[in-house]
Amino acid sequence: MSICFDDNKKIFKLDTQRTTYMIGLTQEGYVGHVYYGARLESACAAHLLRTGEPPFTPGVLPSEKAAFLDTLPMEYPTGGVSGYRETALELLNELGQNGCELFYRSYTIEEGKPELEGLPSSFKGAAADGEVMTLRLLLEDPVLNVTVELRYSVFEKEDVITRSAVITNAADKTRTIRKAYSACLDLDNEDMELITLTGAWGRERHIERQKVRHGRTYVGSTRGYTSHQEHPFIALVTPETTQKTGSAYAMHFVYSGNFRAQAELSQWDNVRMTMGIDPDRFTWVLDPGCSFAVPECVLTYSECGLGRMSRNLHDFYRNHMIRSPWLHRERPILINNWEATYFNFDTEKLLSIVREAKKCGIEMLVMDDGWFGHRNLDDSSLGDWYVNEEKIKGGLKYLTEEVNKIGLKFGIWFEPEAISPDSDLFRAHPDWALQISGREGTLSRGQYVLDYSRKEVRDAIYDMISGILRSANIDYVKWDMNRSISDIGNLVLPPERQQEISHRYVLGVYELQERLTKDFPDLLLENCAGGGARFDPGMIYYSPQIWCSDDMDSVERLRIQEGTELAYPLSVMGAHVCCAPNHTTGRILPFETRGHVALSGTFGYELDITKIPDEDREMIQAQTQQYHQFHSLIADGDYYRIHSWNDEQPYDCWGTVAKDGSEALFTYVQVLAKPNQHSKKIRLDGLDPQGVYELRTYGSETKNPMNGEIMAHIEDGVYTGEELMKAGILAGAVPGDYRSRLWHLVRK
Ligand code: GLA
Repeated sequence: MSICFDDNKKIFKLDTQRTTYMIGLTQEGYVGHVYYGARLESACAAHLLRTGEPPFTPGVLPSEKAAFLDTLPMEYPTGGVSGYRETALELLNELGQNGCELFYRSYTIEEGKPELEGLPSSFKGAAADGEVMTLRLLLEDPVLNVTVELRYSVFEKEDVITRSAVITNAADKTRTIRKAYSACLDLDNEDMELITLTGAWGRERHIERQKVRHGRTYVGSTRGYTSHQEHPFIALVTPETTQKTGSAYAMHFVYSGNFRAQAELSQWDNVRMTMGIDPDRFTWVLDPGCSFAVPECVLTYSECGLGRMSRNLHDFYRNHMIRSPWLHRERPILINNWEATYFNFDTEKLLSIVREAKKCGIEMLVMDDGWFGHRNLDDSSLGDWYVNEEKIKGGLKYLTEEVNKIGLKFGIWFEPEAISPDSDLFRAHPDWALQISGREGTLSRGQYVLDYSRKEVRDAIYDMISGILRSANIDYVKWDMNRSISDIGNLVLPPERQQEISHRYVLGVYELQERLTKDFPDLLLENCAGGGARFDPGMIYYSPQIWCSDDMDSVERLRIQEGTELAYPLSVMGAHVCCAPNHTTGRILPFETRGHVALSGTFGYELDITKIPDEDREMIQAQTQQYHQFHSLIADGDYYRIHSWNDEQPYDCWGTVAKDGSEALFTYVQVLAKPNQHSKKIRLDGLDPQGVYELRTYGSETKNPMNGEIMAHIEDGVYTGEELMKAGILAGAVPGDYRSRLWHLVRK
């Protein structure tokens, strides 16, 4: 039983395989936080609730409310009645006054995990073998007559606890939610550092680490979607935390809209970690009898560093969040025509790509932006989801049949949330764009955003998209979203509900993706947003893969993919081989290195295969074979980060190890050559220490520039797991920048 209640001590204890989370009830009925950390087998730790500490110096009464609420570690702190650290919930009464105080009423413990209506959320999962249990704590504000059900689900095997809450208005008057976070965690400060994933278009999810200082430090999005810039993931770590050592507390938000993730170091030297919907752009009017579900937040704790934290999250998402039947299936190796042609293509051009692709072992064509309406540039036709037969001569059915005849599957691009001013849809329904009365709409990439809070808008788009999908043999959809959202208002909701639109919009996106995946259960759906601006746990509930970034330069990808892998399994990361020079950075990288780096993701090509040099095209054959050989190891194995280019090392190294330790694949990239360099000792990780492994290096042999001699791979040989992990192997130094190798290990 992973959840139990000690009635004498009034303590709830939630245990995973290696962690314990404890909640305590105070005499007054407040729900306090007791402990989160390494698993406690016996101890009760009730003393940690700290209910008896005196307040500030001039005060004498230990439990006077003002001071008490300011110091008590709390599970779901509320606003308006003192307690000046970050709150999780702010409610207004019918007079518009802000005040809320929650008292414990009852609890239930159940097997499995309830759904969150209208929202993506984790589930028990048929295949998972660990226990999943849920604790519901019912809290009440007797003055507002509002209840809050705090939900904690315990995923024993993955060391994950998820949190969410359902707020219900039991009064006969309206209540207004001004803020409703998903999780709050009070921790003692251990010289904590905050890890975040930050970036921009083309350089998403770079890892940053900073000391937590007094006050509030947060990342968030106010762009209406997850954003390129900041990511709904934070981890608190101690200064000594590395990949293998030290504490890591992580929070990850299952949501695809505005968010705020924060660490607040208070005067008492404790850190309050919070995660939830961005409160500045959110209000929800709760009518009598209505409930509001806050999105789910994923928590994990590792006492063995960041590596275990990542593996916990990877296993959790694979076992309990991704629903697609494609999760463990080998995804077709695709070729996407975006960087090959941009808008300039027709049936014949696409078929010429397909013919070449077939010869090299590529399995699917993805027709990107530009096939619909009269779109020849990014200034028109979004919303007109019918085929442009001037470009797609013979129609879509003809094209897909020809592609299938050659032997490839077919995928297609949509941007379902966008509307161009120059579109039939906008001309017919100008009110369908988000807008603020009396103001000219704000264009971004020449487009407005559709009002997905409205059902008739979603239905109309869905009819067009599903019509296209039924009109031809289409195996894959890339769902794109190419701008931050602005002008968040509409012409239908009353004034007091206008601030609900950002959240209603996100619920609308979820509803449409739910419909799409239900009606087309075998469809391979990829989410995308101008690259990786909507890469979040909410999206992987609908799509098993997300386009990681528009930047396919493999050196840039080292940072982007390392940041992404910190929280997501590799099977989720859309990664393609691009052409040279790279269209974003202008950098020219060896074709082999481009392949090795993309191999760690969903794998495909985004280049004009009819125009690349013959020697590159020849290499595709070997790369596609490697993908088939290594796919399940990469997608389903345990991830180990060995070295990081992000840490200013001249090289980068990571790998995946089969769950039973029988096989492993590590990728080594020498980013910059150093003069007079020697072989580098690399200590691998995750192997069976007693196992004897045969190591084979994949990577072209290098010619010594001094004498033209072929430099053989010095790494190949037979080693024990122990020596590979403790002593390491020598990565042979090769002349040249951006050189890479794969090390494949098979236990004998
Ligand atoms: C976004 C995507 C690209 C491509 C273009 C098309 O930028 O990330 O992959 O689909 O849109 O407009």
